[in-house]
Amino acid sequence: MPILDRETTYIMRTKNIFPSIEHLPEPNFIKKPLRQVEFLINGIIEKWNGPFEKVYSPVYGVDEEKAVNEIGSYPLLSGCVALKALDAARKAYDSGRGEWPAMSVESRIEHIRRFVIKMKSKREEVVQLLMWEIGKSRKDSEKEFDRTVDYINDTIEALKQLDRISSRFTISQGIIAQVRRAPLGVVLCMGPYNYPLNETFTTLLPALIMGNTVIFKPPKMGVLLHKPLLDAFAESFPAGVINTVYGDGQEVIAPLMESGFVDVLAFIGSSKVADILKKQHPKPHRMKSILGLEAKNPAIILPDADMDQAINECVTGALSYNGQRCTALKILFVHDSVYDDFVGRFKDEVEKLKVGLPWDKDVQITPLPEPGKTEYLDSLVNDATEKGAKLLNNYKEKSDFSFFFPAIVSGVKSNMRLYHEEQFGPVIPIVKYSNLDEPLEYVVNSNYGQQASIFGENTSEIARLVDTLVNQVCRVNINSQCQRGPDELPFTGRKDSAEGTLSVSDALRVFSIRTLVALKETAGNKEILTDILKENRSTFLSTDFIF
Ligand code: G3H
Repeated sequence: MPILDRETTYIMRTKNIFPSIEHLPEPNFIKKPLRQVEFLINGIIEKWNGPFEKVYSPVYGVDEEKAVNEIGSYPLLSGCVALKALDAARKAYDSGRGEWPAMSVESRIEHIRRFVIKMKSKREEVVQLLMWEIGKSRKDSEKEFDRTVDYINDTIEALKQLDRISSRFTISQGIIAQVRRAPLGVVLCMGPYNYPLNETFTTLLPALIMGNTVIFKPPKMGVLLHKPLLDAFAESFPAGVINTVYGDGQEVIAPLMESGFVDVLAFIGSSKVADILKKQHPKPHRMKSILGLEAKNPAIILPDADMDQAINECVTGALSYNGQRCTALKILFVHDSVYDDFVGRFKDEVEKLKVGLPWDKDVQITPLPEPGKTEYLDSLVNDATEKGAKLLNNYKEKSDFSFFFPAIVSGVKSNMRLYHEEQFGPVIPIVKYSNLDEPLEYVVNSNYGQQASIFGENTSEIARLVDTLVNQVCRVNINSQCQRGPDELPFTGRKDSAEGTLSVSDALRVFSIRTLVALKETAGNKEILTDILKENRSTFLSTDFIF
């Protein structure tokens, strides 16, 4: 996003969309950009003296001459430095003999606890940067931070639980065995821009706590907000256990993948990028992939749905954080008998949404951080209306620059892009159906298979839909919007939507493998085992119980 010219600036000022630079709240990153030079490799926070990438906010500051949104910069590391990070992570893992993978679960938990304490002290700094970098409202930014802290604490409890189960031996057919979960190696963690903290940490922390070592690359938008946590990472873990890389994917990620030394790819983003990354690995079968990808979750409104509830859930389901959630409701199927009622009331509710800057009180619609996003959304709306769909509101009146007021498009049909493409933004396509086979066919033929929502009261209709949908998607929500939480529940998808399952307890499983020690039940073996246990000679073979 470049600095806007004088004429554009004039329009911005007269339209009163963005405040003057001086009137932006503190910390005012436009007045005082955050220049990140640090990166963490092998336990040392190093300083970069190469090229930098500028960071632009979705929020502009305006004055007489210009509109500015540059808020900082971060290192554009080289492939060489990325390989140094890989080397550090490999050394720290040391084929499973490193201090971290060989450490007891209890001690690893202690390190994570130390990290959480330090992380909590950075809450306000991270929240500020979430608002400035990705335009997320204060309320949602705080929620993202707090949810992440809760997730880490819940992960610690889940690991304790898992370890307690593994602290016992089994005896079967004359074989004594102890089964535990062991780490996998070097994990590359890459999160998405919409939940740059939460979604990244829901893979990064479980990967760490299970004894893996990590290279972490923040998403393209949402980099600076990780800076306040660098010290906490450096101080809480042994050298090389966590390393950060920043920069262009082709420059820093390709060499990592091509080395063949990435054991696990934890990536949340597009299936297109995931495919490129996987293909770069010389032995893709050796690399485990945990992927969170696209989705186009439908809501199906049955004729007897409680309209107030359905509208309320569909508005928040489609438009929380401007619809930039993988779990957002991205297409609404409404039965023709209630279509006009639903569409009219839905439109009224959307019109009431409060537009503003991320720090404004009770704001619901905020500016979009992706460059070119508003043009892309316009093109989806235009494609649909040119093919006969109806635009229900004059969204352009309230949209400008990075602001895009939600556009409601009714009468959407299968020949329109909005029917298939994941808009990932504030455009809501509505489809009229008369036969339930229509939305079901949509789900069957879709490239995606994450979640669906059903709104209605008729139990036999709901049950029929549930039984069909559960074999097409991975979560069916009744009379409620689609969502990931609570984090104890499995979060996954079919087709192009995901690979692997995440939840507090599932994440511990996906970043580890079951491994066991077995011995025949002879007197000699029993003596060996008793001695190892009594003298605490092994970390793996142990009956210690974590309280
Ligand atoms: O973008 C995808 C997120 O995992 C969605 O999480 O449903 O809690 O907003 P959420």
